Parts: sequence; C-alpha cells; structure tokens
Amino acid sequence: MKKFKIGIIGTGGIANAHVGAYKNCPDVEIIAAAELIPGKAEAFMEKNEIAGVRFYQDYKEMIDKETELDGVSICTYNTEHAGPAIYCLEHDVPVLLEKPFTVTLEEAEAVCAAEAKSKAFITLGFQPRFDANMQMIKKIVESGTLGKVYYIQTGGGRRRGIPGRTFVEKSTGGIGALGDIGCYSLDMVLNALGYPKPLTVSGYTSDFFGKDPKYNWDYKRFSVDDFAAAFIRLEGDIILDFRISWAMHADTPGDTIIFGTEGALRIPSTDCWNGSVGGPMTLYHDIAGMQFDTKIPLKENSASLWDQKIRSFLNAIEKGGPAPVPSSQILYNQAIIDGIVKSAECGHEIEIKFAE
Ligand SMILES: NC(=O)c1ccc[n+]([C@@H]2O[C@H](COP(=O)([O-])OP(=O)(O)OC[C@H]3O[C@@H](n4cnc5c(N)ncnc54)[C@H](O)[C@@H]3O)[C@@H](O)[C@H]2O)c1
Repeated sequence: MKKFKIGIIGTGGIANAHVGAYKNCPDVEIIAAAELIPGKAEAFMEKNEIAGVRFYQDYKEMIDKETELDGVSICTYNTEHAGPAIYCLEHDVPVLLEKPFTVTLEEAEAVCAAEAKSKAFITLGFQPRFDANMQMIKKIVESGTLGKVYYIQTGGGRRRGIPGRTFVEKSTGGIGALGDIGCYSLDMVLNALGYPKPLTVSGYTSDFFGKDPKYNWDYKRFSVDDFAAAFIRLEGDIILDFRISWAMHADTPGDTIIFGTEGALRIPSTDCWNGSVGGPMTLYHDIAGMQFDTKIPLKENSASLWDQKIRSFLNAIEKGGPAPVPSSQILYNQAIIDGIVKSAECGHEIEIKFAE
C-alpha cells in the first residue's frame, strides 16, 4: 500500500487532533515534525505513540531536507500561518493549514500568490464543512427555497469562554475571538451562499472582558479582541450582520438567520466552532398563500469531522487537487476579518481592497 508521507509544523494543542486523525489512516506515515520549542515535538510524538519521526526546529530545514513529503499539516499559532504556508507552496508541498487563514488580508493574499505559482495546493482547516447539518444549510440555500437572499445575521459566542495561551497574545494570536471563532460563523453562511465577494465593512471590536481581572485571570497578557460586531456589504446586494464573542453578559448574541424573498432559515445560536449547528433549524415559508414553519431535524454524522477533514486532504493530494476548502474562498473570509479590524481602528466604514 502506498503510504502518504506527512509532516507536521507546530506540535501544540491542535496538532493532537491532526495526528489523531492521521493515525486512523493506515495509508499515512508521519515522517517529520518541526517545532520552535526544543524537545516539544519529541515529547508530543512519544505521547501520541508515533515512532520514526525526524525532528527539526526550523520548518524551512524540514521542507528542504524532507524531499519525500506528500503533504504538511500546519498547526502553528495564527501569526505563524503565512510564513510556513508560503514556504511549503514554494517547494510544491501540499498544505493543510489550520484556521483562521492568517491574521491580515495581506498575508492571505501572499499565500494565495504563492499557491498560484505552485504545483501544490493549500486547503484550510474548517472541519465544520464536513458536518451534515452545515451541509444542509448550503443545500437549502442552493435549492432556491429561500429565493433571493438579501440579509443574513450570523455569529455566536460564549458567555465565558476566553481561551488561554497563544490565543490571547497579539504576538501569537494576532486577532482574538474575531479570528478564532468568527471565521467559522462567517464560513457557515458565506459557504452556503457560494462566497460572495465582500465590498465594505463597518466594524467594531472590544476587549472589556479579556482585560478585566474579574473575568480573566490572565488579563495582563490579553492583547486581542474578545468581541467583534460588523455590518458588511457583499456582492449581489446582500447585507451581513455579524457578531462574535468569547465573553459577554448573555448566553448568545443571537441566532443565525438567513432572509430570502421566498423564505427564511433560522439556525439556532450555534457553537459552530464545535463543528455543528446548535439545534433543529426552522424554515419559514408560504404555501398556497399560508405561512408555515418547517422544523428541520438535526442529522447525525456518519464519520468524525476530523477524520473527514484529514481524508479530504489526502484525497486531494492523491488527485493533485482541488483543495477541499480552497484559499480563493477563505480569502474573502479573511478579508472580512481584516476589514473589521481596520474599520474598528479608524472608527468608520471601509472599502475592502484586494491586491490587483
Ligand atoms: N480546527 C480547530 O478546531 C482548531 C482548534 C484549536 C486551534 N486551532 C488553530 O490551530 C492553531 C494552533 O493552535 P494551538 O491551540 O495548537 O496552539 P499552540 O500554541 O498550542 O500550538 C502551536 C505550536 O506551534 C509552534 N510554532 C509556532 N510557530 C512555529 C514555527 N514557525 N515553526 C515551528 N513551530 C512553531 C509553537 O511553539 C506551538 O508549540 C491556531 O491557529 C488555532 O486557531 C484550530
């Protein structure tokens, strides 16, 4: 049996989920790992009971020396997404990059430019894409049941759920709730709509909870957003009303709702970063001039989202692409996140400008 030779860059928390899923694949061999912190990758592989791995501190040295790599999982913190992704693509090594795409739009554009010149592809680590309920949202929108979609409200959040470590420092996380969980909420609706191009953003971010010792023991290190809200205009005359929160005095900033000219879909306020929707959805529509509410029961997944995420990467490697979650889509996701940051900084609506 041909074995996919896989490398891992960054052996922190989420790398466990990657190697856990790779271990479920009899056709995968993890041959190399790069990790900045000395000894961490060795301990990580030992804990995960993976032998025969060659270790590097510098991912560039790993890519240069490990010429047999079929693909790499990049599991570094956000500010270290673009560099390794670009280096892998420049060396024609397929990449599975963790979310969010990058910190800034400029970095995401640089990764896309490297991919355009590469023989390899990059796919983004949005495992909710493989969830049966997420897929149903897309099927409903694509079926035309809602008519022309003109307004979407989306987002989500946790009453108290500020993460720790590398998520909350600007030097490593770069952005806070906005990037960490906001990217999932945006993907849920933008993917359903076929990723219309974002045009303008009026955004707001705050850090009231993260910086307050009442709510965050690690408040001194906190240097990113814990809440963001935005009003975004999308191509096709669609309005996106978005809010996301790591902490708030409420259980939710509201359900996701998609308004169309023929119907509307309500998706209960969702822990979409956990991979699925928060409960049965409701379709509001008229039949023969009468108003009906149709409950859409939750579907079970046939396989774990992580196993599907990893298998989709391996299948794309085997076929030479296309990427299961392409950069061309997630570039727009990142453009919105970046637009919210820039608009919040200047205090007014901004136009999203892409590189020529
Ligand atoms: N898909 C998901 O469900 C999910 C869940 C959690 C985190 N994530 C994402 O995964 C990424 C990592 O999160 P984490 O919780 O594992 O963070 P972490 O801080 O635990 O791990 C990151 C590791 O990368 C290493 N690293 C950083 N830069 C490096 C470089 N240039 N070369 C080699 N190693 C480097 C760090 O030393 C650290 O060990 C984040 O971008 C996060 O958003 C995704």
